[in-house]
Amino acid sequence: MSAQILAGEEGISASVEILREGGVVGLPTETVYGLAGDAFQSTAVARIFEAKGRPLTDPLIVHLPETEWLDRVVLFSSPEQRQLVGRLASAFWPGPLTLLLPKHPDLPDLVTAGSDRVAVRVTAHPLFQEVLRRLGSPLAAPSANRFGRISPTSPLDVQIELGDRIPLILDGGPCEHGMESTLVAIDAEPHENGEGISLNMSILRPGPITNDQLIQYGHVSVSQRIVNSPGSLLGHYAPTKRLQIIDLDIKGLIPNLQIGSYGYLAFTSPPQGIVKECPALEILSSTGNMEQAAANFYGALRRLDQTNVDMIYAEALPEQGLGVAIMDRLRRASYGSNHGTGHQLHGNLQP
Ligand code: TXA
Ligand code: MG
Repeated sequence: MSAQILAGEEGISASVEILREGGVVGLPTETVYGLAGDAFQSTAVARIFEAKGRPLTDPLIVHLPETEWLDRVVLFSSPEQRQLVGRLASAFWPGPLTLLLPKHPDLPDLVTAGSDRVAVRVTAHPLFQEVLRRLGSPLAAPSANRFGRISPTSPLDVQIELGDRIPLILDGGPCEHGMESTLVAIDAEPHENGEGISLNMSILRPGPITNDQLIQYGHVSVSQRIVNSPGSLLGHYAPTKRLQIIDLDIKGLIPNLQIGSYGYLAFTSPPQGIVKECPALEILSSTGNMEQAAANFYGALRRLDQTNVDMIYAEALPEQGLGVAIMDRLRRASYGSNHGTGHQLHGNLQP
């Protein structure tokens, strides 16, 4: 089987038909492509796990047709909690923010891998929204890659990852953000004086919505190291080739790369020696624009992975704004290459 790639009305109606019958399809979102199935049909949800080769212990994000659907999939502990979450949702939805909240018992347990919390978001992608509107049911949708691999940011990426396992990919062109949504666990804590509650947000996966944007809605904490729990596995987003992060903070120095053939992932302008000699070079943004770098990131990594180089060197990016999310993905991509240490390669630089 090879998945059909369809655009426009033809693609939308074919997607809805397949989803209604409990099938799965590749759909575009503003972050990365998702592999979608009706969240209220357990067989559809099981098909998602099967197609991705994802362990049943790793829960799926539920994409809501609109914010009002929160009350059908989330069991709020109090009207105050509902109100605070509603405020947060109306600030960032539709958009690349996923909220981890108490699960409603009506939602099949398979979606959340038996967890009593559910991850929800409303995507801003007009094609995904139209499919949701016509289906009239939320869609469970993880990124449309095989488990542990690079997330797809174009229909062809989905075809490469899952083309032999799914019938259809809805063509929405390249993804706007190119980086998965920010995943935030929400807790509502009573105030110390006993009057009212406030939101505690814990960022489990950095993404397009940054810490600074969230801070005006409550207390934000950020995990300082890569968390190894279901949902944030260390070896995720990985190319098949070895990947090393290099710290090029001293401009003009060329890394002493003792290897015959390597690919190089540059942030802005790579060192001259690299430009002359490297057989596979990708530049994320020649102007140093972080949004552009994020949008190009997975595609560049995928292209480097498809060349015949022995390994990939990737420049560390400044960890500000979206740079936090990109570095999080780079560290995970390099994890297996570093014998489980997750450490960056510093130094080893020569003039
Ligand atoms: O931008 C995105 O979030 C994309 C698009 C398609 O919406 N989706 C996405 O899904 O990245 P996925 O499954 O590849 O990553 C979601 C992460 C996973 O690491 C998953 O384990 C975690 O969120 N997650 C989902 N539900 C959870 C839950 N109930 N508890 C803890 N972690 C959860
Ligand atoms: Mg994923």
